[in-house]
Amino acid sequence: MKIAIIGTGYVGLTTAVVLSYLHHDVAAVDKDESKLTLLHARKSPIHEPGIQNLLEEVWHTLRFTPSVAEVVPEAELVLIAVGTPPKQNGEADTRHVEQAAREVAQVCLPNKHYTLVVKSTVPIGTNQRVAKVVESVFSTRGIRGNVSVASNPEFLQEGLALQGAFYPDRIVVGANSDEAVDTLRRLYKPILEQTFDPPSEFPRPSSYHLPPMMTTDPNSAEMIKYAANTFLALKISFINEIAGLCEEVDADVTEVARGIGLDARIGHRFLRAGLGWGGSCYPKDTAALLGVAAQSGYKMPITEAARTVNFRQRERIVEKLRGTLGTLKGKIIGVLGLAFKPNTDDVREAPALDIIRELLAEGAIVRAHDPIAIANARRALSEKHGMDNRLHFIEDVYELPYDTDALVLVTEWDLYHKLELRRLAKQMKTPILIDGRNVYSPEEARAAGFHYIGVGRT
Ligand code: UGA
Repeated sequence: MKIAIIGTGYVGLTTAVVLSYLHHDVAAVDKDESKLTLLHARKSPIHEPGIQNLLEEVWHTLRFTPSVAEVVPEAELVLIAVGTPPKQNGEADTRHVEQAAREVAQVCLPNKHYTLVVKSTVPIGTNQRVAKVVESVFSTRGIRGNVSVASNPEFLQEGLALQGAFYPDRIVVGANSDEAVDTLRRLYKPILEQTFDPPSEFPRPSSYHLPPMMTTDPNSAEMIKYAANTFLALKISFINEIAGLCEEVDADVTEVARGIGLDARIGHRFLRAGLGWGGSCYPKDTAALLGVAAQSGYKMPITEAARTVNFRQRERIVEKLRGTLGTLKGKIIGVLGLAFKPNTDDVREAPALDIIRELLAEGAIVRAHDPIAIANARRALSEKHGMDNRLHFIEDVYELPYDTDALVLVTEWDLYHKLELRRLAKQMKTPILIDGRNVYSPEEARAAGFHYIGVGRT
């Protein structure tokens, strides 16, 4: 199938590479010249396990261009995967989605049928607005266009994007036209029937079952995306709230999560207590959902509470440091991890950034390490007021603890799981370890000489 994808961010690029791998004829459009330069040199602009190799594998069939006019007319299906950044009030800004739809409609051939699919995460009602935008362009052009708009929300997780794309739990399609549903069923046929040869880096899990393609109306499809992210966000916030109480009553939240997760109705996943969620999705999507609700004058206290609990986790970690060190002024704190989660260099809404800002505000000196996110963190932390000269980025993790008063583990990189704790503790002024992701066993850390403090553990 001939496909045009507008936007080569996490969603657009992953989708382009995977659909090419499935033998579709894909052209991806992006206006960002720096991204295109990288892509034309066969380099992925995003850090995502496996994407570089797969990009090289499909290189001969996948095209990248800045021009919508060059690829849309001949396409059968057009996917919009552009960003929906938050506005000042938290609502999602759909300007780029509407602009993409306008540009697509400008170059659609009269009478030819297109399926225009919105993959970006968008507020409820956006698909209807996109359909109106397309119609109004056609009327200005004075042509009879034939476009079916459909919603096809994306559920990829950064760091696991390709695994999720090849082996999804489900595919959701929201459309009012049978033709659009049929086109999307043909698009995803190799995934729905699992007829493709798995890439060597992504073997099919033995327990994997064929995924359902759920079809519904566009508004419900848009709501499914927000509801799914909000539910996962509040599952994490729930265990973090329980973790706080565990600390008060001398219980261990990792044991509690194990015990409640054994109930099949609850399940084990997304019950890891710690520093909570960051990234470009949960913070933005929970705020956007509240924005949608506010427009109807509807209150969502559970979603609001999930956010409050989440951001409180960051403050609680700094409180723990204060509690053990007395004052933070002049103290040297080592921060392990800057990315919002492992296997990505993404620092958007990362807990590490807030924690570092707070430590600096209280007069501490910060030494920070991350295997791949230092460049992005440096940029984010110097954006508003320039780089604070009390913040130092350290490339070698074993140099991080030198002379520090405490270490805080913020991101649970594999590398940190395997650290020689005794070696770290020996270099520190005072061997205090605040484990913001419950990576280490308290016994092991104490045996290595640390004063260990986790989240929700005795
Ligand atoms: C999330 C969803 O998982 C995807 O399904 C969705 O497509 C995506 O948002 C999106 O809307 O684009 P993502 O933000 O990449 O994906 O990452 P997650 O793996 O869901 O983790 C989010 C945050 O929750 C991370 O900061 C992680 O450290 C934290 N987390 C996760 C916990 O604190 N505890 C857990 O048990 C699980």
